[in-house]
Amino acid sequence: MERLYTQESLGSEEIVDLLGNLDQTSRKRLHTFAHQKRVARYGTGVYLRGLIEFSNICKQNCMYCGIRSANKAVSRYRLKPEEIMDCCREGYNLGYRTFVLQSGEDDWYTTDKLAGLVADIKRHYPDSAVTLSIGERDDETYTRLFEAGADRYLLRHETASSSLYEALHPTMTFENRRDRLRALKAIGYQVGAGFMVGLPGQTNEDLAKDLLYLKELNPDMVGIGPFLPHQATPLKDEPAGTVEATLDMIALARLFVPDALIPATTALGTAHPYGRELALKAGANVVMPNLSPLSVRPKYTLYDNKICTGDESAQCRFCLDQRIEGAGFHVDMGRGDSLNWLSRPPGEQAV
Ligand code: 5AD
Ligand code: FES
Repeated sequence: MERLYTQESLGSEEIVDLLGNLDQTSRKRLHTFAHQKRVARYGTGVYLRGLIEFSNICKQNCMYCGIRSANKAVSRYRLKPEEIMDCCREGYNLGYRTFVLQSGEDDWYTTDKLAGLVADIKRHYPDSAVTLSIGERDDETYTRLFEAGADRYLLRHETASSSLYEALHPTMTFENRRDRLRALKAIGYQVGAGFMVGLPGQTNEDLAKDLLYLKELNPDMVGIGPFLPHQATPLKDEPAGTVEATLDMIALARLFVPDALIPATTALGTAHPYGRELALKAGANVVMPNLSPLSVRPKYTLYDNKICTGDESAQCRFCLDQRIEGAGFHVDMGRGDSLNWLSRPPGEQAV
């Protein structure tokens, strides 16, 4: 444990040991240390990103995910580019300067359509960043979307255990996932990796691998949330990941990748009424409120009981301002680029 605080790098065994021995006191100390690291790098601002879930149609079949292709019970939708533009306009007027376009792996959205959409958003809102979260595509698509103006790309590695990865992703491979992350980085995106905590069968050894992989990849963003069961998936009866373990991993991610942007995830806000606030106090510095039209929000359910999908959710912005201030932070509506990316040599940057 001490080695964590003296900047020495930890190996797998030491991480496993640390995770296995956390108690109330050491956990508090870990979270406080991560919080201090975040304040030193990013201050007490919390960046807000407007999330637009534009299609819940997905060709993949991840065992944990509510919009997996085998789930015939979900009512599928796909927003048209004009509808997505409407969400951006509304978001821009509310002050958002990052739009996160997220969807299932939906090939109706061809490279041309996506590139046109990204270029349109950047033309209308040149002071905003566009983040894509649309899964695995080929090099050409990633390159063209980057050239169209996309700034960032979220592609969680989901788990750094190859056996667990393959068990959970019948239609995808561990190697390809890593290859796609490398490709995104090489193209010049600010890249977001990340994983779920408490996946069925996941061990502390696996979580140690997640942290070591993060260190190796050195991503710009790291999304971490608890696994939460969805009733229409094969994992419906599995226990959810715990809030505690998720917060510990967020704190450790802050220490392993200090310059990363780390969201207080919706999954954590679903698992605990103050999950996002707790994450902000354990090293997270981003929140991603939903900007999707209210009519489609209940359909984008990756797990059960997702928050902010009902009538009250039109007030997310206001609700979040209060929550963030209440937790001792302040909202920052800037683009909020990652320090890691800003410090890369100019030739390697997009702007
Ligand atoms: N529980 C928690 N997180 C989930 N995700 C997908 N399904 C679930 C679930 N059942 C996460 C994945 C994905 C991100 C968009 O949501 O990590 O990358
Ligand atoms: Fe959506 Fe609080 S953030 S209601």
